Amino acid sequence: MAAKREHFASSITAVSALAGSAIGLGNIWRFPYMAGQNGGAAFILIYLFCVLFLAVPIMLCETIIGRNAEANTFRSLEKLAPGTSWKWLGLLTVLAPLIILSYYSVVGGWSVNYLAKSLFSGFSAENVALFGSFNSSVWMPLLSHTVFLGITALIVLGGVKKGIELFNKFSIPVLFFLILAIAVYSITLPGAGEGVRYLVKPDFRNVDDDTFINAMGQAFFSLSLGVGTVLTYSSYMKKDADIMRVGIGTAVADLIFAVIAGFAIMPAVFASGVEPGTGPGLIFETLPFIFVKLGAVAPVLSRIMSVLFFLTIVVAALTSSISMYEVGVAYIVEEKKISRRKAVLRIFIGTWLLGALCSLSFGPLSGVKVFGLTLFSLCDVVTSNFLMTFGALLFVIFTGWKLDRELVRNEFTNNGMLKLNGRLFKPFYFQIRYIAPIVIVVIFLASLN
Ligand code: PHE
Repeated sequence: MAAKREHFASSITAVSALAGSAIGLGNIWRFPYMAGQNGGAAFILIYLFCVLFLAVPIMLCETIIGRNAEANTFRSLEKLAPGTSWKWLGLLTVLAPLIILSYYSVVGGWSVNYLAKSLFSGFSAENVALFGSFNSSVWMPLLSHTVFLGITALIVLGGVKKGIELFNKFSIPVLFFLILAIAVYSITLPGAGEGVRYLVKPDFRNVDDDTFINAMGQAFFSLSLGVGTVLTYSSYMKKDADIMRVGIGTAVADLIFAVIAGFAIMPAVFASGVEPGTGPGLIFETLPFIFVKLGAVAPVLSRIMSVLFFLTIVVAALTSSISMYEVGVAYIVEEKKISRRKAVLRIFIGTWLLGALCSLSFGPLSGVKVFGLTLFSLCDVVTSNFLMTFGALLFVIFTGWKLDRELVRNEFTNNGMLKLNGRLFKPFYFQIRYIAPIVIVVIFLASLN
């Protein structure tokens, strides 16, 4: 095994790392339109319920496995269930985040490109509607993807403490400050009311099976569940950290960020007249429009706001992409016994190639379809609809049925030291043994219809 494992310095920095993984593009472009499409405040309530009663317990299962085994996902499962096939399932959770990273880096690259545009040229009436021609071109998106993935690689190369922990420790407070400033600005825009109403008016007429399916999918994606990132980060967590507090702290930070991001973005979406359910391109199509409008009356402010906005998106995406990258690096370093530098390089090459194909699938490769999906959408659907759900199920079943009950209790209560956790252990254990697996399977089956 690796000679000496690094650890996060404290519970606070562990929360900032996990929250960094959680807070990302999922909060900024996905959550706002998910909420919008699924009944606004009604969706937010259901989402809250899914996060607290389903996602947090699943997250704790990953934490229990990772912190106890102190190894990458593959080795953790092998250590805790020696000689069984569980480790091969663990290998799947090494692959899944790397597939996500590949297409995530494409969108991260778009953000880097828009940040550069905001800094150096600004948006004008002429270039505002250019997203379609930008992302379908060949070189610019590829270059942007390379830059984004390159920055991710450099941070990961810095190591767990000097790279990942340090970057998250500074970025998380900055991100909250930025998104709050943007939201305050955004809801004071003329015509913002409609956007705010879209988000807060509970509309129970739109609530159906799909709402629950979407809320669960969003909770998994947003909290980075089922793909080994939580497990890997938890393997760097100290033994005296209270995992329940860390888990709840992470979920609450992620939720608050998502809601504020909704308030930052929806008013802008409405003011620009773009369809809120547009998907990955949404923020790139709507935000520049707003900056052009604002630029006509207050050019300097408009420029500053657009820089801040895209900076927020880039940093949020980076805190997530490093967590996916680290899953692969931890695996390669520990299993193939090679240096961190070489491991970082290998992951770079693999994810760059897959990402490049995903990027080209908006342009020259748009005709290449698998099951009717472009490569970008295929990677998205396979990971968020299947691999994440499967991974989450795997972790709850492993913790609830395979691991020794005493081991789980000891991790949950720090060997009985945490009294409150001791009282909550029974309901938690019941939840992960029975409720969580059944709910995951039922919702998954319902989503196939
Ligand atoms: N949670 C991240 C987001 O909201 C995405 C992510 C998924 C990160 C899986 C790591 C693993 O953008």
